[in-house]
Amino acid sequence: MKIPEELAELGRKRIEGHAVEGFVYGSGPKQPKLMLVGEAPGETEIGNGIPFSGRAGQKLMEFLEGLGLTREDVYITSAVRSRPYKWREKRNRQGEVEMRKYNRPPTIKEIIAHAPIIDYEIQHVEAPIIVTLGNVGLQRLVGKSMKVTEVHGQFLQHSVLHIDENDTFQWSKDKYLLFPTFHPASVFYNPKLRELVASDQQRLKDWLQKQ
Ligand code: URA
Repeated sequence: MKIPEELAELGRKRIEGHAVEGFVYGSGPKQPKLMLVGEAPGETEIGNGIPFSGRAGQKLMEFLEGLGLTREDVYITSAVRSRPYKWREKRNRQGEVEMRKYNRPPTIKEIIAHAPIIDYEIQHVEAPIIVTLGNVGLQRLVGKSMKVTEVHGQFLQHSVLHIDENDTFQWSKDKYLLFPTFHPASVFYNPKLRELVASDQQRLKDWLQKQ
């Protein structure tokens, strides 16, 4: 499924002036086995336009493989569709200091700027379950009261937040089946999470096999 081009254009306009670059479309069928909601693309993704195609993406593909799924079976999106960056100094091989762009988490303003896009996807993609990856994806949908460390691996029938014409978040009338788990990149920083990710994966696999 592809979002309307006017909506992508609106997203690009709404995020102008923020330290972000590129624009990555969500990808996957209209009737996927599940929908994945990440944080924001990184350098690799804005280079090739494919969500989760970098280092975190490789981990995510392993997660999907464990579920018996491939990229083509799922709809992949994220809270923000451009890469949020910050400039930092980096010493090159010659020992000279260079400025380089680094990834950073999106700000709430950037999340609001791209909220209409994910709202559209949630309404139009017919996914039986929405798997959120990390706190940014989770909290975009259910607010700050939930934390991935507390609710990961649970099946939650829950309303989701969408933006109104005043850029204020409102709860949906419909409830959606949500399954929060960790962001695939989180195991790079905290290898202890590997076991928790594996047990979430098993629960999700059991659920998929019952469908
Ligand atoms: N993290 C995300 O949330 N999305 C990507 O596409 C890559 C990393």
